[in-house]
Amino acid sequence: MINISEYTKFAIDIAKKAGSLQMLYFGNITEIKKKSNHIDILTEADTKSEELIINEIKLKYPNHSIISEESPDIHNDSEYKWIIDPLDGTTNFTHNLPIFAVSIALLKNNNIISGVVYNAAADKCFHAEINKGSYLNNEKINVSSSSTLSDSLLATGFPYLHDSRYDLSFTLFKVFYDQTRGIRRLGAAALDLCFVAMGRFDGFYEFELNSWDIVAGTLIVKEAGGIVTDWDGNEVPLNGKRILASNKKIHKEMTTILTKDKYKIFY
Ligand code: IPD
Ligand code: CA
Ligand code: CA
Repeated sequence: MINISEYTKFAIDIAKKAGSLQMLYFGNITEIKKKSNHIDILTEADTKSEELIINEIKLKYPNHSIISEESPDIHNDSEYKWIIDPLDGTTNFTHNLPIFAVSIALLKNNNIISGVVYNAAADKCFHAEINKGSYLNNEKINVSSSSTLSDSLLATGFPYLHDSRYDLSFTLFKVFYDQTRGIRRLGAAALDLCFVAMGRFDGFYEFELNSWDIVAGTLIVKEAGGIVTDWDGNEVPLNGKRILASNKKIHKEMTTILTKDKYKIFY
């Protein structure tokens, strides 16, 4: 029997409630709103699951702060802060691809103490608590044991904004593609991180993510024995601007590539 804190139990409960709500919309999406451009989209499933999660947190922990992707930040004078992506993988969701998740993290004095990622379509719930390991549906998970890039399968993603770094990001993709068994681009960063945590992927890198995409998954990778840093190998800032997660063993090989001068444009 695993010992789960009250906060994590609550986070799992609301992630599952939001996931069940998403499944009512999954396969039935008729209205899509555009955000920054035609590929940055929003559905009623994003807003309704966010509403559910925020209301539940406000009810149970009215003095906690809340940062959630689609809503204004709620700053309270509390050491606790929730960071939420109510639906990570909206493009997949819209195209009836079951690779999407709810991502909920709790920070205490800016340290991640709890992380939950729930993939409702597969009923897979990942959770981690600081110093207590990582779990998938309550079974312990660990990162892979691959020790070289050449034996590794990686994951990455591309940002919605196709700016000056866009072409170079494909060059970088090719470099990793040539040196590994392959790279997958699944379209849900929170799940990419969980798949590193459970050893499906050996590493994951991306740029221009946001805190809500990565905080829960970051704790899940670390507690599964992996490492999460920026592309230089430094402790990852929680903003996700240049995230690198791995099983630890291939980290150095990855930072050696990511710190090359020609990729400084990503800084
Ligand atoms: C997106 C996904 C995707 C990543 C994008 C994110 P959203 O989140 O995590 O994998 O490549 O940059 O914005 O918009 O579906 O919550
Ligand atoms: Ca996201
Ligand atoms: Ca989202």
